Amino acid sequence: MKVTIDGQAIEVEPGTTILQAARMIGGEVVPPAMCYHSKLKGSGGKCRCCLVEVAKGSEADPRPMPKLMASCVTGCQDGMEINSKSSPRVQEARKSVTEFLLINHPLDCPVCDQAGECDLQNLSFEHGKSESRFIEEKRTFEPEDIGPNIQLHMNRCILCYRCVMVADQLTDNRVHGVMDRGDHSNISTCISKAIDNEFSGNMIDVCPVGALTDKTFRFKSRVWFNKPYDAHRDCPTCSGKTTVWMFGNEIQRVTGRKDEFHEVEEFICNGCRFDHKDVNDWVIEGPRAFEKDSVINQNNYVKKLETVVINTEETILLGREVDRKKISMAEIDYNEKIDGNPVNSTKNG
Ligand code: SF4
Ligand code: FES
Repeated sequence: MKVTIDGQAIEVEPGTTILQAARMIGGEVVPPAMCYHSKLKGSGGKCRCCLVEVAKGSEADPRPMPKLMASCVTGCQDGMEINSKSSPRVQEARKSVTEFLLINHPLDCPVCDQAGECDLQNLSFEHGKSESRFIEEKRTFEPEDIGPNIQLHMNRCILCYRCVMVADQLTDNRVHGVMDRGDHSNISTCISKAIDNEFSGNMIDVCPVGALTDKTFRFKSRVWFNKPYDAHRDCPTCSGKTTVWMFGNEIQRVTGRKDEFHEVEEFICNGCRFDHKDVNDWVIEGPRAFEKDSVINQNNYVKKLETVVINTEETILLGREVDRKKISMAEIDYNEKIDGNPVNSTKNG
């Protein structure tokens, strides 16, 4: 099936979602995603960050879809045409979703362990407003101790359900979930039970915000002061493939390896995560080279590059598609406005 996203066409298998197709294309067409996680079955459809505009439904039924669609749960159709970053409607919707997500979210970044690698922080950086229109009181919760390894800050939770899915799909006997409904919804354990099983630490890695953080790393360092290295060990419980976050020679934190979409590649066990902070426990493979563009890796971002195309017939070096687009500057909006004034107007100099 052929689908086109922001003018870039790609062939996909039936059953592919719009978000997956966009990720295959890569770059700026990829919608942000806070609740979808490719390794968790049934995830997605909760946060509405990934809304896109379907300008043409399919070859068979070319009518546009009237509402913006959640790309993580909408399947591609042959001939579908989708607008993501290029659509002003989508941009406006992302701004509104960000504003809603921030309604109850505290301005905790200066003291939050997730700051620097927080998906909501990145989303706000791109789509957030500098001030809030919310004058009501934010939600507050009684602190709850959910065990020795994981710290819960319920007021930071965006109810994406990823941690609940980790518990459902990776661990036996889930003891936590979303309690209550509507504005009162909260992540909690049943009668304050401690979350205690071998893979529970993965909830920390999938939490897109700082609602679930690692107690063994709590307030140790800002994440941007740590250097991430790929490391592995012989582990009887999991693959033992992790990222260790080092400050000098000290391992301050161990996490699963995350890809360019900030999703865990392989889930790791609590033994690797919490109990092996000695460098001698690990075989260090080398610096972690590949991550989502985020606050911690500004100017340090290594992303997969498209291969250079050489037309062998004529032995012409065509270069990379992405570079060609940049040079032709087709994506530049000359009608862009700042504070209501066209960017190119003389008013702005
Ligand atoms: S605690 Fe984190 S992972 Fe769990 S629902 Fe809230 S935001 Fe999502
Ligand atoms: S990522 Fe699609 S709705 Fe959350």
